[in-house]
Amino acid sequence: MGRHRVSEEKVLVTGATGKVGRELVPLLLEAGVEVTAGTRDPERGRALFGAEADVVELNYARTETYDAALTWADRVFLIPPPFSPDAYEAIGAFLDWAVSARVRHVVLLSGMAIPEESDLPLRKVERHLERQDVAGTIIRPNLYMQNLYPGFIYRQIRRDGHIRLPAGRESVSLVDVRDVAAVAARALTEADWGGRGITLTGPRALTMEEVSRTLSRHVGQKIGYEAIDDDEFRETLEVDGWRAGEVEVILGLFRSIRKGWRKPVLPELEEALGRPPRSFEAFAAELERVWD
Ligand SMILES: NC(=O)c1ccc[n+]([C@@H]2O[C@H](COP(=O)([O-])OP(=O)(O)OC[C@H]3O[C@@H](n4cnc5c(N)ncnc54)[C@H](OP(=O)(O)O)[C@@H]3O)[C@@H](O)[C@H]2O)c1
Repeated sequence: MGRHRVSEEKVLVTGATGKVGRELVPLLLEAGVEVTAGTRDPERGRALFGAEADVVELNYARTETYDAALTWADRVFLIPPPFSPDAYEAIGAFLDWAVSARVRHVVLLSGMAIPEESDLPLRKVERHLERQDVAGTIIRPNLYMQNLYPGFIYRQIRRDGHIRLPAGRESVSLVDVRDVAAVAARALTEADWGGRGITLTGPRALTMEEVSRTLSRHVGQKIGYEAIDDDEFRETLEVDGWRAGEVEVILGLFRSIRKGWRKPVLPELEEALGRPPRSFEAFAAELERVWD
């Protein structure tokens, strides 16, 4: 906490070392915003952000970490644990705590294609936010391009040599995590985002065959796509160490792809940022330098 504080208003970024958090913290700092980076692993946080952000421990399972994370915070970027069947149970108490600590705006990261009336874990979190007496913004991104690198699909390609997913032949308008972070930064720094919901997609919907062909062309490795069924995928996920409840959430996500619910290309990201979303082609081209 050694840094001179120019205001008493800060943004708390939860999940600060996760995929969105690590992109969002630098964007906020560049915008001159005071940031608390909340993470289960402060050492990792400090290695990523240096002295620019106040890095504090935040673990939803440890209420004793809540107060330090929320000190001076008037806005919160709230990320649920990934693919958790207990997302609501995991962050409900933290959200209540933040509201009693008088934060004035919560920007929640949710996901695309979650039916309004469902009881899916992320919908329960959304509903809990909607019931609070606080300005709320819900960001609903489609599947991230970064799952292909460095995420779980990359690990699968390294192991099996190709992509094996229960995505059928349907297409997905994959979105770049850096665009998700850019929208979150806008929501946290501009007026009038309270009460908004925004669904974020990339500029084109691609089948997994198209994804694998584009990747192959750029990374100099022939990567195929095999459409597998839920049972085969369940086995792979269990081998990779996902817990049973998480496996079911991930299977649900791929079911929504097969139903075509993740195919729409929406204008909302471009409307928010004033520029087109990053394309998968551009994302794959960048991988030429890092793929091994
Ligand atoms: N992956 C996708 O393609 C995708 C697409 C759309 C929406 N989403 C949604 O976005 C959310 C996050 O998924 P993601 O893939 O972005 O995850 P991620 O980057 O892999 O992880 C998010 C971060 O959450 C934090 N976290 C996890 N458990 C926590 C706990 N008990 N207490 C405090 N923080 C905790 C961790 O931050 P620290 O390690 O810094 O503690 C973790 O890095 C999920 O709800 C997911 O459904 C994901």
